[in-house]
Amino acid sequence: MPYLVTAALPYANGPLHIGHIAGAYLPADIFARYLRLKGEEVLYICGSDEHGVAITLRALQEQTSPQAIIDKYHPLLKESLSGMGIRIDYYGRTSDPLHHATAQHFFLRLLEKGWLEKRVVEQFWDPQAETFLPDRYIAGTCPHCGYEEAYGDQCERCGALLSPTELIHPRSRLTGAAPILRPSEQYYFRLDLLQPFVEEYIHQRQWKPNVGPVVEQWLKTGLAARAITRDLSWGIPLPLPDLQGKVLYVWFEAPLGYISITQKWAAQTGDPTRWEHFWKNPDAHIVHFIGKDNIVFHTLIFPAILIAADEGYTLPTAVPANEFLTLEGQKLSTSRRWTVDIHKYLQVAPHRVDELRFVLTALMPQTRDRDFSWEEFATRINNELIATLTNLIHRLLTLIWRQGGEVPVTPTEALLEARITAARHIGKRIEDYDFTGALEEVLQLARRANKLLTEQSPWHRSPEEAQSIVASYGDILAAFGTLLEPFLPVTIAPTLRSQLGIDTFPWQRLCEPQVLVDQLKLKAPPTPLVQKLTSQELQMMREKLLPLPPSVPPAQEFISLEEFQKVRLQVVTIRAAERIPKADKLLKLTIEAADGLHVVVSGIAEHYQPEQLVGQQALWVSNLAPRTLRGIQSEGMLLFAEGEGGRLVRVSPETSVPPGSPVR
Ligand code: 2FM
Ligand code: ZN
Repeated sequence: MPYLVTAALPYANGPLHIGHIAGAYLPADIFARYLRLKGEEVLYICGSDEHGVAITLRALQEQTSPQAIIDKYHPLLKESLSGMGIRIDYYGRTSDPLHHATAQHFFLRLLEKGWLEKRVVEQFWDPQAETFLPDRYIAGTCPHCGYEEAYGDQCERCGALLSPTELIHPRSRLTGAAPILRPSEQYYFRLDLLQPFVEEYIHQRQWKPNVGPVVEQWLKTGLAARAITRDLSWGIPLPLPDLQGKVLYVWFEAPLGYISITQKWAAQTGDPTRWEHFWKNPDAHIVHFIGKDNIVFHTLIFPAILIAADEGYTLPTAVPANEFLTLEGQKLSTSRRWTVDIHKYLQVAPHRVDELRFVLTALMPQTRDRDFSWEEFATRINNELIATLTNLIHRLLTLIWRQGGEVPVTPTEALLEARITAARHIGKRIEDYDFTGALEEVLQLARRANKLLTEQSPWHRSPEEAQSIVASYGDILAAFGTLLEPFLPVTIAPTLRSQLGIDTFPWQRLCEPQVLVDQLKLKAPPTPLVQKLTSQELQMMREKLLPLPPSVPPAQEFISLEEFQKVRLQVVTIRAAERIPKADKLLKLTIEAADGLHVVVSGIAEHYQPEQLVGQQALWVSNLAPRTLRGIQSEGMLLFAEGEGGRLVRVSPETSVPPGSPVR
């Protein structure tokens, strides 16, 4: 039975970070590698999602064209994935002409089958920018949860799908202006009419515990017709003469990328019809790995498109969505620069890819959000990966080497049984999309072997006894060469196999009682598979990979009123301001406070001219210990708000008050 494995097509608008890897690409890779070892026919495809406002917004921010954005990020995404050992059979892109043709085919097909309907809708128009606003270009308050930064298509806090007119106090993200409604014609996809077919499909499948309830809730609320065209210049043009200047909605065409990328792959195999082996085959399995924000599109809308097309498409078998990874307790955010980017990690620690895979598998947010911290990263590597697993392997290899590098393989019943049970359990867990559990089974096997080996202590035995003990572990050592392959395929599993001079075994063999190899022969003295992560290395990684503290403090860290009252705040008037020679960033300010004049040195010279400040009021922390900067003693500190792009803005009372007025 063929398997098509896919992972969410990443937007080509920014780098990949650890959250993306743990969320979709790594679980898909473990799954695909395991299936290949099982001898299944597997195709893992992915590609860049290159349309939609994710791209145009980034182009606006970087003051360049959408084309330049996708041409910059598409190769970066591809390299980051392959650098992480994510073995994708074909990595495509949705700007490909073949993808455009496939998406346009689906649009025409749905139109022909009567599932599309033209409607005139009132749409938001930005009166300042004089343009229709895509849903994502509008922000406002979510009507469901009250989040003030919800977008016109989705609330990122509660996950609700929205239309922009539902937002309370909508505003244009381009200009900040209040948008006005204007009529515009769009094609609507009649999801409402398809609901019975979609429901039937949903109830024929099994869903992960974090996916099923979300889907059920959607069905209970009732599917509504959705516009699948947009007033935008960047995207796939409508394949019709009418409605010029409109494109297909990105969430209509991007999932069709799974089909067009399979078609691309097929074309380069020399058999362009081969994609049908996956997409028009009732026996094929299609498994979509995604993050939780994509659930509705993959479980409901995409299957609805396939059903509506009525051309015999295979419907997704499973959508093992993951929750989110947080970083040191906070949401990952590219715009706030609170991420660990993969391309940077690969530069800073190119030899530690399997270590990151190990940690991200252990912390995979499979049914709930999980947190990545650098401390945990080090602990998992040193105390789990090394202490439990690779030290065991190294100890055994060293014992073999000391015995001349060659041992017959004669496992005990108990060790054979342990290997068989582990292989079966690991396989079962992977098939249930429980990758953390599967890795835990690997560690369990190592713990068992460690315990036995310590009890037997071959180091304290006669050479003959030691040899027979070591020989009993040969089978497990050989098995690790395959058992580790889905998880640690970049350096650890292949190095072990090369040290042992063996290849991988078909997974099924690991589940059977026959000995895997008759003897082991090492060619060279073993070297440790993983180096301990020192605190210096950790510090270096942390500094290079996470340069900025998050700009918003963790919500839960409260301080007491007493602690707050220790900070003495008062309003002061700035009486003089001057530059400090050879200090580009500093200004020397003379302020009038309750008890007279004081001098404060502030790092605001890039934001204010001295004359802009004279006569203005500001807030002053008076009891901060004095510091000497550039030879000038600075007393206390003036407060500034940090605006967009780090711009500093003076904080002052709403109306003027006498200098020295306390702030409480
Ligand atoms: O959320 C995202 O990053 C989307 N680019 C995922 C698209 S998945 C598929 F539908 F193409
Ligand atoms: Zn909400």
